[in-house]
Amino acid sequence: MAPQDEPVETQVLPLGDEAIAEAARLILAGRPVAVPTETVYGLAADATSDSAVAEIYRAKGRPSFNPLIVHVGDLDRAETIGRFDPAARAAAARWWPGPLTLVVPLRPDAGLAAAVTAGLDTVAIRCPAHPAMQALIRACGRPLAAPSANSSGSISPTCAAHVFKSLGSRIPLILDGGPTARGLESTIARFNREGVALLRPGPITLADLLAVAKAPEIPAGDAIQAPGQLRSHYAPSKPLRLDAVAAEPDEWFIGFGTVSGDDNLSPGGDAGEAAARLFAALHRGDESERSRVAVAPIPDEGIGLAINDRLRRAAAPRET
Ligand code: TXA
Ligand code: MG
Repeated sequence: MAPQDEPVETQVLPLGDEAIAEAARLILAGRPVAVPTETVYGLAADATSDSAVAEIYRAKGRPSFNPLIVHVGDLDRAETIGRFDPAARAAAARWWPGPLTLVVPLRPDAGLAAAVTAGLDTVAIRCPAHPAMQALIRACGRPLAAPSANSSGSISPTCAAHVFKSLGSRIPLILDGGPTARGLESTIARFNREGVALLRPGPITLADLLAVAKAPEIPAGDAIQAPGQLRSHYAPSKPLRLDAVAAEPDEWFIGFGTVSGDDNLSPGGDAGEAAARLFAALHRGDESERSRVAVAPIPDEGIGLAINDRLRRAAAPRET
């Protein structure tokens, strides 16, 4: 067992065969390791081990009612963990490996640690596209539970330095694969007999999902389905003002397109580029000498829907 709350030395290793082997060794010994994916860095641990999964919750300070995503190498492995109807299978076939998480009924014989699903009868499964995460899954030979590699409620990490700032001295290893390509967490959609419910907007839009799944949209429901849905989440430590057209005194201003500021998410007004750069920009605003942060308007369409979802939560009053 890992030492509980005692600080550990956090190693940062550049990606490569040796780094993957060391990460797999730690994971099979029950420790959590930070690893890049195409969305954000994840904190990966053995999804079949109660004590390994407990280490994730402990390192993140994550509430235990908040279940984890299980990462697998392919759809065949996913089908041993959850029940896929034709609609879920169509979505997986279209977007896996990629930034889509499917919430499906949990198989009783899935073999997961109970804390992974936090007692729900559904499970969130994703097949990531990043070669590092794929290599790690293969080297471990088991599904990996991995939330974003940040302390609970704070901004998600899109590079190794963000992980180090948030979890340094709490985890033994960070694999450094440079900045992530997408920059926003995966789309989360729940599939059941009635249809498809969008639990978290992301790189894959609801419209595209419904078209491929050939299923109707159903409401996500009232219960907290994805605590990425908590009103305050992804939050910088400073007040954040949205839809700003100019900076007020003492604001760090994050621009977009022709609205320029201290930073610009995409001078050319490309929403995909803005998504990839969003969390790094919020981290820089947090680290700046100004006491508040403001962000220019982002068009509410396509990936812009997911960007605005994260910004609203980052700007919401803190709940805890
Ligand atoms: O892109 C991503 O999805 C990243 C990378 C590392 O894969 N992971 C990620 O994990 O964003 P996390 O834990 O930060 O967000 C996962 C979300 C949580 O809000 C959790 O509540 C939700 O997935 N979730 C997990 N299992 C669920 C379930 N059975 N039903 C509904 N929501 C679930
Ligand atoms: Mg997260």
